[in-house]
Amino acid sequence: MEIKKICVLGAGLMGNGITQVCAQAGYQVAMRDIEQRFIDGGMKTITKNLTRDVEKGKRSQEDMDAILGRIKPTLDMKEAAAGADVVVEVVIEVMDVKKQVYKELEAIVPAHCLFFTNTSGLSITEMAAITTRPGKFIGTHFFNPVPVMRLLEIIRGYETSDETLEIAKAWGKKIGKEVIVVREAPAFAVNRILCTMLNEAFFALDEGIASAEDIDKGMVLGCNHPIGPLALSDLVGNETLLRVMEGLHRELGDKYRPAPLLKKLVRAGRYGRKTGKGVYEYTK
Ligand code: 3HC
Repeated sequence: MEIKKICVLGAGLMGNGITQVCAQAGYQVAMRDIEQRFIDGGMKTITKNLTRDVEKGKRSQEDMDAILGRIKPTLDMKEAAAGADVVVEVVIEVMDVKKQVYKELEAIVPAHCLFFTNTSGLSITEMAAITTRPGKFIGTHFFNPVPVMRLLEIIRGYETSDETLEIAKAWGKKIGKEVIVVREAPAFAVNRILCTMLNEAFFALDEGIASAEDIDKGMVLGCNHPIGPLALSDLVGNETLLRVMEGLHRELGDKYRPAPLLKKLVRAGRYGRKTGKGVYEYTK
């Protein structure tokens, strides 16, 4: 199957990054969100990223204009999904909300359309099961910042067909990603390990083992990580980390208990960079 039109549902942190890499690869992309301010924010980020590339001489102005020309931002679900060969769903990490979106989509998309879900750890099989096309359903887990991070983690649901897997792998390669294929399991492979480490950093901070700055410095200088775990949690969103940990805790037990300090920050609205405050504070 040839992919021509892609619909990305969500213009936030991950959604606009996925839209950008798809448009860079030559696809026509409709990027849909539920409020104009999210759409505007997504387009602003994409434009900023491409402008930086032009300024650095990594791409021409014509190339940038052509990429932007392939993106159709919209609030209209029907307009975004009609005629799509692939829908990449990047809505909030709440199972019931995602299921509702798939019910709505089924009435709009053509029969051949594939569903790719970007989730940090929810069950692909459970989402696929409420659709009429579980064979055409697969997990495509991206990493933040999407235009920079090289990995695409592909997760097969219980009913995902071999053909869908092969199409998703080829698509991943075309949008410039290295692909790993993992079996469905809570938080898959990367987040199971990464998020457990980030959560542990919150326990260490809460126990007064070291300051936030020194925990991060320790992991950067001692383990060669590009940024420390607390700074990384602020980058991906502390509420996202908490959701992943809650899922792991529910499915796999006490070893994965979310750190109380992480919960406290999320309750305080300190989601990280996106809200201007997390473990650290971010000024303009
Ligand atoms: N969007 C696009 N490009 C960006 C960017 C962004 N948000 N942030 C940085 N970049 C680009 C810069 O323009 C620069 O490009 P260049 O090489 O052409 O000059 C390059 O990335 C490096 O950026 P900087 O020099 O500004 O800063 P760093 O060297 O510190 O890199 C980083 C920034 C790439 C974010 C680096 O700190 C890093 O790799 N951090 C770890 C990221 C990570 O682990 N992500 C995975 C999170 S887990 C996840 O997303 C899964 C989810 O389910 C929880």
